[in-house]
Amino acid sequence: MEKVRATITGVGAYVPEYILDNHELSKMVDTSDEWIMTRVGIKERHILKEEGEGTSFMGARAVEDLLKKTGTKPEEVDLLLCATVTPDHPFPATANIIADKVGIKNAHGFDINGACSGLLYTLDVAAKFIESGAKKKVVVVGADKMSSIVDYTDRTTCVLFGDAGTALLLEPTTEDVGLKDTILQADGSGRHYLYQKAGGSAYPATHETVDNKWHYIYQDGKTVFKHAVSRMADVSVEIMKRNNISPEDLAWLVPHQANLRIIDATAQRMGISRDQVMINIERYGNTTAATIPLCLYEWEKDLKKGDNIILAAFGAGFTWGATYIKWGYDGSKFHK
Ligand code: ACO
Repeated sequence: MEKVRATITGVGAYVPEYILDNHELSKMVDTSDEWIMTRVGIKERHILKEEGEGTSFMGARAVEDLLKKTGTKPEEVDLLLCATVTPDHPFPATANIIADKVGIKNAHGFDINGACSGLLYTLDVAAKFIESGAKKKVVVVGADKMSSIVDYTDRTTCVLFGDAGTALLLEPTTEDVGLKDTILQADGSGRHYLYQKAGGSAYPATHETVDNKWHYIYQDGKTVFKHAVSRMADVSVEIMKRNNISPEDLAWLVPHQANLRIIDATAQRMGISRDQVMINIERYGNTTAATIPLCLYEWEKDLKKGDNIILAAFGAGFTWGATYIKWGYDGSKFHK
């Protein structure tokens, strides 16, 4: 029997209109464009300002974009997974809310929390459903409203994050394309260095948790940086080696966009040049589960069937991983 693989057949995205740039941030906290650009590489981020709207607002718009451009009817979708750390509510799943908003009625769905590696974790689950023959059209949403958990008086974190929603369509193929290999790892002992302390079952919301600012992101940036630099590069090099991909064979590295210095260090360890790396952190910041598909969305027109692409991420947990994809279509077909 021919091997069935999952392949990405379209990319959709939505970013909110409002732009928070370094100039505006420097009026809110003691920071500067110069510090943010040299230490992180971000100029601006998009922020969802609509009252009462959460991650599903952006996820639903990204799915609508995806379905329209790929000519997929909502009722054809048979699974919708949502990677996010900022669900609309603790329950029900944001995946269910998005499906309802876009009219997807013949699918089940659930959320996956892998923080900044969430997109890779979720792609892997989607691929397993397709490879087993259980599902034929799977939508993977990567969406986060990071502004909902950012403390805009903390200069060490508020400059880093932005909001965005993205969606990928995955379908089966027997051609020599698609998701070919994945390495996913986790080390829960890193959980104290990057987390949102309250709002879950350990510390439900009280006056005290709010007063202590425990509902915001806490990050020990230096420790996270140290682990991110080595681990993202380790898995990226490992996946190249075990699939015999030389630096010349690689069309694109699509790294999670947390810090330009982490991206450069990864590319250097892989022996590839900057022009083989998708980088848009300058315009969006770290949108957690949305960074990787947002890159694929922006570069889609340049992607060619058969391109070797490595996705790589590191995030809270700690979680990290790399995915090797042979791209399944000429992106130019959507950009006539
Ligand atoms: N503006 C000006 N100065 C600042 C700012 C700012 N926005 N933020 C921090 N500083 C100051 C600090 O207070 C410190 O000052 P001090 O020396 O007087 O104490 C100095 O700059 C250096 O601070 P560091 O934290 O050491 O700065 P660093 O170079 O490490 O950069 C950063 C901080 C950008 C957060 C970096 O550590 C980083 O990128 N970490 C990893 C982020 C990451 O990959 N996260 C994982 C994904 S996110 C997820 O999973 C949700």
